[in-house]
Amino acid sequence: MANVPRFILGLTMAVLLPNFVVSFSTKTKIDTSTDQSALQALKAHVVTDPQKILETNWSITTSVCNWAGVTCGSQHQRVIALNLSNMLLTGTLPPQIGNLSFLTSLNLMNNSFHGSLPIQLANLHRLRFIELGENYFYEEIPSWFGSFPELQYLSLSANKFTGQIPSDMFERLPKLQSLNLGMNNLSGKIPIDLLKCKELQFINLESNRLEGILPEEIGNLTKLRSLHLDNNRIQGEIGDLLNLEQLTMSNNGLLRHPPTMYNLTRLRILDLSRNHLSGPIPFDFPSLLNLEQLNISFNMFGGSIPSTISNLTRLTILDTFTNYLSGEIPSDMFERLSKLQVLDLVSAWIPTSIPMSLFKCKELQIMNLVDCGFEGILPKEIGNLTMLRSLDLTYNEIEGNGKLLDAVLVFYCLFQSVG
Ligand SMILES: *[C@@H]1O[C@H](CO)[C@@H](O)[C@H](O)[C@H]1NC(C)=O
Ligand SMILES: *[C@@H]1O[C@H](CO)[C@@H](O)[C@H](O)[C@H]1NC(C)=O
Ligand SMILES: *[C@@H]1O[C@H](CO)[C@@H](O)[C@H](O)[C@H]1NC(C)=O
Ligand SMILES: *[C@@H]1O[C@H](CO)[C@@H](O)[C@H](O)[C@H]1NC(C)=O
Ligand SMILES: *[C@@H]1O[C@H](CO)[C@@H](O)[C@H](O)[C@H]1NC(C)=O
Ligand SMILES: *[C@@H]1O[C@H](CO)[C@@H](O)[C@H](O)[C@H]1NC(C)=O
Ligand SMILES: *[C@@H]1O[C@H](CO)[C@@H](O)[C@H](O)[C@H]1NC(C)=O
Ligand SMILES: *[C@@H]1O[C@H](CO)[C@@H](O)[C@H](O)[C@H]1NC(C)=O
Ligand SMILES: *[C@@H]1O[C@H](CO)[C@@H](O)[C@H](O)[C@H]1NC(C)=O
Ligand SMILES: *[C@@H]1O[C@H](CO)[C@@H](O)[C@H](O)[C@H]1NC(C)=O
Repeated sequence: MANVPRFILGLTMAVLLPNFVVSFSTKTKIDTSTDQSALQALKAHVVTDPQKILETNWSITTSVCNWAGVTCGSQHQRVIALNLSNMLLTGTLPPQIGNLSFLTSLNLMNNSFHGSLPIQLANLHRLRFIELGENYFYEEIPSWFGSFPELQYLSLSANKFTGQIPSDMFERLPKLQSLNLGMNNLSGKIPIDLLKCKELQFINLESNRLEGILPEEIGNLTKLRSLHLDNNRIQGEIGDLLNLEQLTMSNNGLLRHPPTMYNLTRLRILDLSRNHLSGPIPFDFPSLLNLEQLNISFNMFGGSIPSTISNLTRLTILDTFTNYLSGEIPSDMFERLSKLQVLDLVSAWIPTSIPMSLFKCKELQIMNLVDCGFEGILPKEIGNLTMLRSLDLTYNEIEGNGKLLDAVLVFYCLFQSVG
């Protein structure tokens, strides 16, 4: 021990001797009071608390670690999670919230917090989870969101954020897996810097005023599984997103379907409804074999339903409502699409009798066949579809058989058929 320098010995003693331990716990106490005053400041900024949660529960006579919605770390007794979701709170966020320096999870979802986000939030370097959805936060999204080294989940959805998505917001979010900026009032283009967040698996930008062409390099996000861009003005070039499972681009004014989407072998949900897509239905590619939900309603697709659709044997939803389809139904379509639960072919012109193979789709719950030109007698096998809740055959030339239809729990307008 003689050769050991004094200061190292001092450190060793600090760990071993009780008086040093006392000095540690004094420090902890100071920090806990920082958390307490930060949360008291938050409470003071809450102007309505109809369920009186903070009012009655957040009492300084008990440790913050016992307060509703507050979780402390088991060893250091510092606040690590704040979850005030669904509490009907109205108020603003005070700058002191940036003093909760051990916070890893912040959830204020579904309240009426408003105002802008205090820059002091950027001090919370440990944050892994930020959920501020369903509030009334406004102004632009601050670019300091770009420096949370641990952040995995960020949702600012359903607020009043305006302006462009700041491109520096994606500078240093190396661990971001889930990004939800949907249902705000964001405009401009999707910043290409988004591609720096290589861990992204889920992106939701729906219902904003975003525009421009999705960069083809989106394919660089190799872990992406869900991409939701509905209700914007975004044109798509869905690179080779080989892991993509969900793609929804409803109501974007699309004039052509994303041309590179045919390698999406994992795709389960595809919604291209409410666009201006025309020409033949383009799903004659062998790769979409895992598709479960296909919605191309409210477009201008023409021609017949391609025979290749019969290979999409996992389909549970097929919705072609209001296009310009006509011709025959592929002969083996219903035999092979036996998992169908929702079938909507409204306005596809198919002037034949209802194919008997349809009644092999035993899982059908909703069938909307308005204005399809079907003719003949509704076969009694309709009674085989025991799951059917809704059947609409308005504007066809079908004759019904009331007795058998008792098997159908709800059906609309059956006898309004013309002819
Ligand atoms: C506050 O709520 C927590 C649970 O949410 C409960 O354990 C605690 O006893 C409450 N404290 C007071 C003072 O009501
Ligand atoms: C937050 O609290 C809600 C209940 O109000 C709960 O459903 C949710 O799982 C909690 N967890 C997190 C991480 O916020
Ligand atoms: C929001 O919170 C209120 C109050 O707890 C609850 O009644 C409502 O269902 C919640 N809304 C959503 C979308 O979770
Ligand atoms: C907490 O934050 C505020 C504002 O950011 C600061 O002025 C104050 O000194 C901090 N309080 C404590 C106890 O650290
Ligand atoms: C959306 O933002 C624009 C300015 O960019 C503003 O003029 C408009 O009123 C906002 N709309 C809503 C619904 O807040
Ligand atoms: C996308 O990946 C390619 C190849 O790995 C790389 O050369 C390119 O710079 C990346 N582009 C972006 C915008 O990240
Ligand atoms: C699909 O992938 C193959 C091989 O990876 C590639 O050669 C082809 O160009 C891709 N097709 C499309 C439409 O992206
Ligand atoms: C298909 O998309 C339309 C328009 O976006 C929507 O109204 C409809 O509910 C969707 N169909 C199904 C079965 O989800
Ligand atoms: C269905 O897939 C099989 C095997 O991949 C292929 O041989 C066949 O041509 C496809 N049928 C149609 C109608 O696309
Ligand atoms: C309808 O059900 C009956 C009795 O279960 C069965 O014999 C018949 O093959 C079924 N028809 C169709 C088209 O599935």
